[in-house]
Amino acid sequence: MADATIAERWIEPPLQAREHTLCDADTYEAMYRRSIEEPDAFWDEQAARLEWITPPETIADWSFDPVAIRWFTGGTLNLCHNAVDRHVAAGRGETIALIFEPDDPAGEVRRITYAGLQREVIRMANTLKQLGVARGDRVTITMPMIPEAAFAMLACARIGAVHSVVFGGFSPDAIAGRVEDCASDWIICADGAVRGAKPVPLKAHVDAALQKVAAKAVLVVRHTGVDVTMVAGRDHWYHEASQGVAEDCPCEPMAADDPLFILYTSGSTGKPKGVLHTTGGYAVWTETTFRYVFDYRPGEIYWCTADIGWVTGHSYIVYGPLQNGATALMFEGVPNHPDHDRFWQVVAKHKVNIFYSAPTAIRSLMREGDGHVTKHDLSSLRLLGSVGEPINPEAWRWYHQVVGKGAVPIVDTWWQTETGGIMITTLPGAHPMKPGSAGRPFFGVCPQLVDGDGQVLDGATEGNLCISRSWPGQATTIYGDHERFVQTYFSTYPGKYFTGDGCRRDEDGYYWITGRVDDVINVSGHRLGTAEVESALVLHPRVAEAAVVGAPHDIKGQGIYCYVTLNVGEEPGEGLAAELRAHVRQEIGPIATPDFVHFTPGLPKTRSGKIMRRILRKIAENDFGSLGDTSTLADPSIVETLIDGRQNR
Ligand code: WT7
Repeated sequence: MADATIAERWIEPPLQAREHTLCDADTYEAMYRRSIEEPDAFWDEQAARLEWITPPETIADWSFDPVAIRWFTGGTLNLCHNAVDRHVAAGRGETIALIFEPDDPAGEVRRITYAGLQREVIRMANTLKQLGVARGDRVTITMPMIPEAAFAMLACARIGAVHSVVFGGFSPDAIAGRVEDCASDWIICADGAVRGAKPVPLKAHVDAALQKVAAKAVLVVRHTGVDVTMVAGRDHWYHEASQGVAEDCPCEPMAADDPLFILYTSGSTGKPKGVLHTTGGYAVWTETTFRYVFDYRPGEIYWCTADIGWVTGHSYIVYGPLQNGATALMFEGVPNHPDHDRFWQVVAKHKVNIFYSAPTAIRSLMREGDGHVTKHDLSSLRLLGSVGEPINPEAWRWYHQVVGKGAVPIVDTWWQTETGGIMITTLPGAHPMKPGSAGRPFFGVCPQLVDGDGQVLDGATEGNLCISRSWPGQATTIYGDHERFVQTYFSTYPGKYFTGDGCRRDEDGYYWITGRVDDVINVSGHRLGTAEVESALVLHPRVAEAAVVGAPHDIKGQGIYCYVTLNVGEEPGEGLAAELRAHVRQEIGPIATPDFVHFTPGLPKTRSGKIMRRILRKIAENDFGSLGDTSTLADPSIVETLIDGRQNR
């Protein structure tokens, strides 16, 4: 790798960041130490920035064996109140909460103040109540990146309903599976979405999903104006249903450990899991991490480019920024439409100070050349962030030099849907950066690197990344399946939370995530279970068997590499490969579209029939030299056939 040297070099935080900081290096050390030595006192203090209806009686109240995760027990609060109402009550009602930048650069920008947000959330909350939604009910939200998506989430939080946001790019089947799993009787969607001028028929997807599962009501926000079918008695236009609802709606007092939301994410086996986050711990975690990691100051414009359908959108478009009274930009579009400078044009247009995005986007823009960046005035930028996958040093350097002009710190934030918020990162004014390393643990986070036998490794080393103590943002269960929660995260290394990631710690105590060590692949920062893609493939009538692995991909980080065995008499070919790609896209959604289809007469199996995925991974990586022991294969000659198939591609 050309820039192996830069990866090891320290990059000092620029002076500007050292001056503009809530937390310098000494403060970090002192706060981190206190968060570990006196966690109750530490988190009690952090939690005190929120408004509690009843203060918590117990702060940390958890066990990893048996698994029972509770924080701030005895406390009651409402997260919508903390994200919206309390700012209005404190005289900050005229501060802009959300700036909406539409897909079409010539479209109308919307600016919503905290007072305006309060009115909109109340209108949505009362509409939901009128449709029969009550405390504890699950509400599925599948929406474009428009402010109504945030209104819907906050409205649920306000009335104590549990939201389950489903990414707008998922297929009807994927929507149906998620609606069914949490028995969600209500769905909020829009008529349609547009991304990069491409229409997405959202309501039609919901209609197709509801051929498979039932819902009591669908609330439809008019957005693109596309024609939709409205089922009488079931479907309601938001602009009609919200007519005449009351202008006030009290915030429901929620126990700290009452559910806030469910978010589905892929694992190494089975169908996606409904990760459950509760109110108090998640509120404190997103408030605190946003505050320290982005070092936000009043008046600044903050932009996270994630979609609301992923946890990043939940924590760092909605709950983190709004609890901090920040101004957050919401962007409906894509980085490369109408041209590859769209992100930078938006930064210049809105004078964005903090920009938080993903390595895959950075790599795809880097490829298009510096001109798209340099033609815009990006001098408003003060902090850059990265999330979703390891950022390769080359992309890091481009982000730092070309976008940040070498003058802006980068926070590379490692975390997961299950962690609720950022876990490992440098803090902008406190820590020098190392390109490609996420950096140091956030307050209260105790990372441990563990070997295959569960031995904890000390010092500079590499192993499987576990977290040995609970932190306030930790998910508390998998909706409806606590046993699966325990199995998935706490059974590999009893007494520890296992992240599924491999990781190296260097001599400076910096963490370098090396990627997933399970059968999960990270495609453009989106998590996909290889098993999900395999199940979709074998549903195709001509497919006998399939095995899916990740393979290096220049833009996406990992691409989806599918080994496919056909039924007897079927002929492989480009036409069938294209058909299989379209089939998986149809079953799961565009993000799961296979990048490579490798037809093979067989798969490498042991005598007991277990597929040796290690071999498949190596071959997909074009690494034929270190296939390891293949003598236990039932038919070792399959390896040569697979290598031939790979080389001929
Ligand atoms: C997985 C979690 C965190 C929100 C977006 C993805 C990978 C995430 C980083 C990073 C290296 C990263 C890990 C993790 N990951 N951020 N900064 N450096 N890897 O959430 O879908 O739950 O995926 O994303 O592999 O386990 P997610």
